[in-house]
Amino acid sequence: MKVTIFGTGYVGLVTGACLAEVGHHVMCMDVDVNKIDRLKDGLIPIYEPGLEPIVKSNIESGNLLFTTSTEEAVNHGQVQIIAVGTPPDEDGSADLQYVLAVAESIATHMDDEKIIVNKSTVPVGTADKVRNLVETTLRNRSLEVPFTVISNPEFLKEGAAVNDCMRPDRIVIGLDLHGESRRTVETAMRELYAPFNRNHEKILFMDVRSAELTKYAANCMLATKISFMNEMANIAERVGADIEFVRQGIGSDPRIGYQFIYPGCGYGGSCFPKDVKALINTSKELQYQSKILEAVETVNNTQKHKLFDLICRHFNCSKEDASKALKGKTFSLWGLAFKPNTDDVRDAPSRVLLELLWKAGAKVQAFDPEAMEEIQRIYGLRGDLSLVGTKEAALRGADALVICTEWKNFRTFDDEYVKTQLSAPVIFDGRNMYEPERMKMKGYAYYSIGRSSNMQGSER
Ligand code: UDX
Repeated sequence: MKVTIFGTGYVGLVTGACLAEVGHHVMCMDVDVNKIDRLKDGLIPIYEPGLEPIVKSNIESGNLLFTTSTEEAVNHGQVQIIAVGTPPDEDGSADLQYVLAVAESIATHMDDEKIIVNKSTVPVGTADKVRNLVETTLRNRSLEVPFTVISNPEFLKEGAAVNDCMRPDRIVIGLDLHGESRRTVETAMRELYAPFNRNHEKILFMDVRSAELTKYAANCMLATKISFMNEMANIAERVGADIEFVRQGIGSDPRIGYQFIYPGCGYGGSCFPKDVKALINTSKELQYQSKILEAVETVNNTQKHKLFDLICRHFNCSKEDASKALKGKTFSLWGLAFKPNTDDVRDAPSRVLLELLWKAGAKVQAFDPEAMEEIQRIYGLRGDLSLVGTKEAALRGADALVICTEWKNFRTFDDEYVKTQLSAPVIFDGRNMYEPERMKMKGYAYYSIGRSSNMQGSER
């Protein structure tokens, strides 16, 4: 099939590359000339395992094309997929300007039947807005061309995006058609996704609004699991329990499951924080207060301060007056990305910590396998941040080690070496990478998330 994709961010580029990989003829459009020029040469703007080889091979085979021309893009595909960003507005609502701009461009250039697929995460009711806009634009052109707007949310995870796209758990398609026209669109969507719809039926057809809400409900549920566990962790620490045992104890119940119950220094990324906020706002607009989602957000914002709280506890200072104890200190920071296997630092817990430490007058020596360029781009050159090439170099002369991201490479370290590099053996672990008992035996003051050893640590 001939498919056009608008937007070459995570969702657009991964979807485009995967659809091309299974044999569709895909054209990806973006307004960013520089990005498209680089993509044409096979240069990928994001770090995503497995993406580069399939982009390159499909450019070579001619299945994957890139353009900055809206007209060319609209003419190319029978299916037009909108995968542009929906960044949060000042009040946290999803900003639809890019989605609507694409819809208008499609309507401005189309002259044959199109299936317009919305893949961007958009508030419930957006498909109606897109439909109205396309209708009005076509009317202004005095053109009567049939079209359909469907909702087809994407559930890919950064770092596993290619696999998620190729082997989805489910393919959600929302359409509000009936009779013959519904059958035609369903058939086209089945053809588009047939290569991913193997082993068992994964396509779920539903109405547009349910599909739109499904995306938010999925991300909000996952965010809720994490905030719930972080709350349990804070309780565990206080009652003298270890959240890691509790996690296994509850995860073994299949109704709860092991996934997404890892406590930590808070969730980040481009989806959870934005989507939780957006659904809170949608509810508010409908005079409904989502108490659960508000709590999920509040718990997460508090959790992003957790490592700083532990640091203050160790150095015997209050958060408000942290500079008294922390000014002039140097912290070694392992991990900047919001999670491993990505260079993404959007809403990353590391950034909250960096800013709190800087505010208190401390310096940071940081290492991340992929995300240092991004951090540099955001904060620029500054005297209180040095980005270094190895986790070992980040330790040199620091007063403590702090871990924000559970990169595999951080799972083990040379104990003696770490001790010779740090001015004192102190570790604040935001991802529970090590055993408190073992760390204690090795002579570390070791603080982590939701373990009673945190309380003992403060008595050292
Ligand atoms: C998420 C959804 O998982 C995906 O389905 C959706 O399409 C987009 O949003 P992503 O943002 O890439 O994907 O990352 P994810 O792996 O879900 O992690 C999000 C955040 O939650 C990370 O900061 C991670 O560290 C944190 N997390 C995750 C936890 O703190 N504990 C967990 O148990 C799981």
